[in-house]
Amino acid sequence: MTGSNRVKLKPGDTIGILGGGQLGRMLALAAARLGLRCQVFSPDPDSPAFDVVLNATCAEYADVEALELFANDVDVVTYEFENVPSAAAMVLAARRPVLPSRSALETTQDRLIEKDFVTSLGIRTANYADISSLATLREAVLRIGQPSVLKTRRFGYDGKGQVKIRPGDDLERIWAELGTKSAILEAFVPFEREISVVAARAADGQVECFDVTENEHRDHILKVSRAPAAIPDALADEARDIASRIATALDYVGVLAVEMFVVSGGPNPGVLVNEIAPRVHNSGHWTLDGASISQFEQHIRAIAGWPLGKPLRHGHVTMTNLIGDEIDGYEQWLTVPGATVHLYGKGAARPGRKMGHVTQVSPLPPRQGRN
Ligand SMILES: Nc1ncnc2c1ncn2[C@@H]1O[C@H](COP(=O)(O)OP(=O)(O)O)[C@@H](O)[C@H]1O
Ligand SMILES: [Mg+2]
Repeated sequence: MTGSNRVKLKPGDTIGILGGGQLGRMLALAAARLGLRCQVFSPDPDSPAFDVVLNATCAEYADVEALELFANDVDVVTYEFENVPSAAAMVLAARRPVLPSRSALETTQDRLIEKDFVTSLGIRTANYADISSLATLREAVLRIGQPSVLKTRRFGYDGKGQVKIRPGDDLERIWAELGTKSAILEAFVPFEREISVVAARAADGQVECFDVTENEHRDHILKVSRAPAAIPDALADEARDIASRIATALDYVGVLAVEMFVVSGGPNPGVLVNEIAPRVHNSGHWTLDGASISQFEQHIRAIAGWPLGKPLRHGHVTMTNLIGDEIDGYEQWLTVPGATVHLYGKGAARPGRKMGHVTQVSPLPPRQGRN
């Protein structure tokens, strides 16, 4: 997608969404509020996003004919997950604008390409190395030190596809168990906290960042997000500046999230980028109830070619994920004063599966500015 090929949707137009999970569902709900229709493409017949749209395509991402028919039905294509096969994106891009662009997708689908890109902007990450064999792993462990984290370059999520390496570990066994020849080794960052910035960028270059969010993981899965993060203003400004620079350098159109580590001790305190998600992000769910405009609406506005909003936060916001059988407590949550409950309509509550979330907002005291 280039500047000469700009999208400008009108109410009543149709957005195609690749992926049918909760992110696609919440995107479609935000689009509906703006008078836009969505058609969802997903191989899973039980996709939660299918429930909220009139038209759905249930087919594999390799099904070229289904992709072509889908493209014919929509005015612009977007996606809710980063592992969209490049071939599918290519088929679609030949027919309709695909936003964010394929090049943004390709940069962020691969941890090595992503880290090379981030460091090329002069933005810090953990020290890292390209790992393609046991020999390169042994050499990199000596250079980067321990503890360190070995990650598959592609397809990792919620801590899957990564393993922490500690002194004395059997590298041969770890390498064999990772089951890929395409990995990176990262120095373990002794972070004080994890934060993220959800940013939206429009085709005309406008960038709007939400307030910095602080994220708490449990078993590598996001459990609680709090906005604003309890960090000094200078650090928050730095984090948002980093997200803006990344969005601009990618010539990005849509919402992205940048996960970061805050390091306070040591010789180089500051912010390090962990990873970029080229999509709406779990750590931005608080914006649905905690801000005047949600991340989902910002994404829809950006890909529709509409002006981005300037989101105002309504207070101190906490978002709690309901994971696996925690969903069974939804009735309890429904009785909590001030809580807003979101259920994704998923079937089996498998361990680790994100089933819903709850937002709680503590309103700002009257007549006070930003806090
Ligand atoms: N280099 C690192 N140093 C310290 N902790 C890390 C490092 N890499 C990942 N982690 C921890 O593991 C979590 C998941 O890793 P991440 O790279 O974000 O993969 P994904 O979210 O795709 O599974 C991070 O949120 C962080 O808590
Ligand atoms: Mg992550």
